[in-house]
Amino acid sequence: MRIGIIGAGQLGQMLGVAARELGHECRFLDPADAPPAATVGPVTRAAFDDVGAIAQLAADCDVLTYEFENVPVDALRKVAAAIAVFPPPDALELAQDRLSEKRLFEKLGIPLPPYCVVDSRADLDTAARELGWPIVIKTRRFGYDGKGQFVARSADDLAAAWDELGDKALIAESWVEFERELSIIGARSQAGERVSWPLTQNQHVDGILRSSLAPAPDSAGSMALAETYMQRLLEELNYVGVLALELFVANGGLLANEFAPRVHNSGHWTIEGSTSSQFRNHILSICGASPERADCPRPAGMVNLIGSVPDAVMALDDKRMVLHDYGKTARAGRKLGHVTVVAESEHERDQLVARVLQNVTQSP
Ligand SMILES: Nc1ncnc2c1ncn2[C@@H]1O[C@H](COP(=O)(O)OP(=O)(O)OP(=O)(O)O)[C@@H](O)[C@H]1O
Ligand SMILES: [Mg+2]
Repeated sequence: MRIGIIGAGQLGQMLGVAARELGHECRFLDPADAPPAATVGPVTRAAFDDVGAIAQLAADCDVLTYEFENVPVDALRKVAAAIAVFPPPDALELAQDRLSEKRLFEKLGIPLPPYCVVDSRADLDTAARELGWPIVIKTRRFGYDGKGQFVARSADDLAAAWDELGDKALIAESWVEFERELSIIGARSQAGERVSWPLTQNQHVDGILRSSLAPAPDSAGSMALAETYMQRLLEELNYVGVLALELFVANGGLLANEFAPRVHNSGHWTIEGSTSSQFRNHILSICGASPERADCPRPAGMVNLIGSVPDAVMALDDKRMVLHDYGKTARAGRKLGHVTVVAESEHERDQLVARVLQNVTQSP
């Protein structure tokens, strides 16, 4: 099949590799010059809101998907009359607005941190009174990698928060003193078959994912509940493709942070660490096939390379580690690649992850 993918970043690149292995061909749409996925298929250089370019991509392909969330839902709905668009545009629309996302969690009985809608400066004061300190104020739309967020620790911070974010639609939520962060990634086929990978434990630094461990240590007891939440989301959304749910562990329970209607950074370890990767299962699902085994037979880990790909990481010579270099120009805060480790024991995995992290943090 010919698969159209909106977005040609590293997620598109890894989807393209998986598609090629399955005998499919990919075409991409992206405004960037020479984006990562250009190595795996032709890229139409156009803005993500170029409705004409999206329609043209759809006309050239058998199925359309996306690796980037800020795609105009109306444009997808329009082409969905003529071509299969997966994940469903309705799922994307819900994920694009933190308020509708939170309301969906509430509807499905998935616990989440307390929150308030903030449409005015007065709402912000009310939210702080209701939620208690600290709170995190987030833009409802267009946030990624912790951007569009402000943590307010006392009333003194609210003026600065409002200065920074007050011109946008906002929500405020309680700051969660979480024990750790987990994610569950699932896939659902057109026929409704579902798979979920074991829970992954994620460490964020400055709002950006730094490293992941799979399976998350001591998470067997949480897996059934996380999988139930995943199933509720997949079924409610009549979902097709891969979906990621980010969770906080607090007071021993799970709270939903957000979901992503796409392949997810916390699932990169599945390329080497699972029988079938998130990229492969996404492609299989959207192309009408059944997802394959989503497992983690040996402890796996992933470290993101942010801002630079240190020489020490390039020089890693260890069969237990695999470097993925997306081929992007280095820029502070930019995800340029990742290293996956697969080990024989959790202890060995943790040591390997620590070794890579040390190289990463030692770099300028
Ligand atoms: N209410 C909260 N309490 C504690 N930590 C939080 C809260 N909200 C966000 N964070 C921290 O900030 C990180 C990024 O937040 P969030 O997932 O909402 O943002 P994002 O910009 O959509 O990120 P991404 O799309 O990259 O996952 C979280 O993974 C978590 O570490
Ligand atoms: Mg997040």
